[in-house]
Amino acid sequence: MAKRFGPSNIAVIGMEWGDEGKGKIIDFLAEKADFVARFNGGNNAGHTIEAEGKKIVLHLVPSGVMHKNKLNVVGNGLVVDPKVLLQEIGFLEKNGKKVSPDNLVISENAHVILPRHIEEDKKIGGKIGTTARGIGPAYTDKAARIGLKFYEFVDDAVFKKRFGEEEFYQEYKGYASALRDYVGDTTLVINKALDNNKKMLFEGAQGTLLDIDHGTYPFVTSSSAIAGGVCTGLGISPKKVHSVLGVCKAYNTRVGLGPFPTEITGAIGEKIQKTGKEFGATTGRERRVGWFDALIGKYAVMVNGIDSIALTKLDVFTALNKLKICVAYRHKGGIISDFTTNMKILQNCQPVYEELDGWWDDLTKIKSYDKLPNNAKKYLRRIEELLKVPISIVSVGPKREQTIVARSEFLI
Ligand code: IMP
Repeated sequence: MAKRFGPSNIAVIGMEWGDEGKGKIIDFLAEKADFVARFNGGNNAGHTIEAEGKKIVLHLVPSGVMHKNKLNVVGNGLVVDPKVLLQEIGFLEKNGKKVSPDNLVISENAHVILPRHIEEDKKIGGKIGTTARGIGPAYTDKAARIGLKFYEFVDDAVFKKRFGEEEFYQEYKGYASALRDYVGDTTLVINKALDNNKKMLFEGAQGTLLDIDHGTYPFVTSSSAIAGGVCTGLGISPKKVHSVLGVCKAYNTRVGLGPFPTEITGAIGEKIQKTGKEFGATTGRERRVGWFDALIGKYAVMVNGIDSIALTKLDVFTALNKLKICVAYRHKGGIISDFTTNMKILQNCQPVYEELDGWWDDLTKIKSYDKLPNNAKKYLRRIEELLKVPISIVSVGPKREQTIVARSEFLI
């Protein structure tokens, strides 16, 4: 295919239940972008980046911070724990990454996670296995129109009136003054930059199936994790999202509770979990693992309008005799070929698998698509056929350089 100029603004969206490797992909693409803007979630996210000999886990600051001269935006769609944000800024500085209002702006309309939100999440979040970071209760206050926005938080007079937790008053007042210079009108900043043809990456947190509206409710997070969330979470027009890059793993994982039709238990599941280091970046919890579910893949392509896919962790599949892809569900004697978020149905679905042959070669040093083993290529092609979307990036390890560009025309 002839090479053409790629899109200038790309939304990077998780296709499953989070942990697809979005941080790594954004870090890889950020080199060519001017802005990296996060639009949803909070410090429930954990974006792991391995580059320049360091391993960095980010929870709030967008992944563009790993590169010089990028503007990182925390959009209005987020709920931000000021204490965690300041810790993260300190951690980045210790690791040689400069963070200042010149490269990080927080939306004045983002909501503040307060101590009472965390307390409440610890009390009630167990039912669905939340990260207990106060995310749900902070979004609840936002929807109930009693939340505290960042422009209020950093205004001494308003803060004094609105902050009800006496024992934390001095501590949070300190956070407010440390963050004051970072707070701005990000909607205006982003739209002006778009008018000036700046290149942007819109960084999604969590994934399609954790989306509050389109995920596996109630086992979801409380924000819009799908591509539609870019517009509401940053205040931009859908016309400004030129392309959507879906990120998925070679297999599926899920942290927390809820149905997972292709879940693998036993030795193979443990092997994938160990090789893939499937333990939460935020909570350290074990991630449940499962075979690639093409119904979920097709669903993610549909609700996000995915143009191309970045498939991560293909290297983890080395040394498995057979690989499975779920192509349909069996439900009460019938066959279902489209994913459903109807829990009554999903809880009682059994996967129908197609089997493919595995490979034994180590993939972690492979630099080009052509050099991948034939069976790995067959696996990728089968996913492309089932999802009807091309794979533009294949990731074969956690490091920035372990990234194979298969089709550059879809990338920034
Ligand atoms: P909350 O976002 O902390 O309210 O958690 C709600 C659900 O989303 C739980 O099942 C969490 O495990 C899951 N979750 C939230 N953020 C992430 C993430 O970044 N990766 C994977 N799972 C997540």
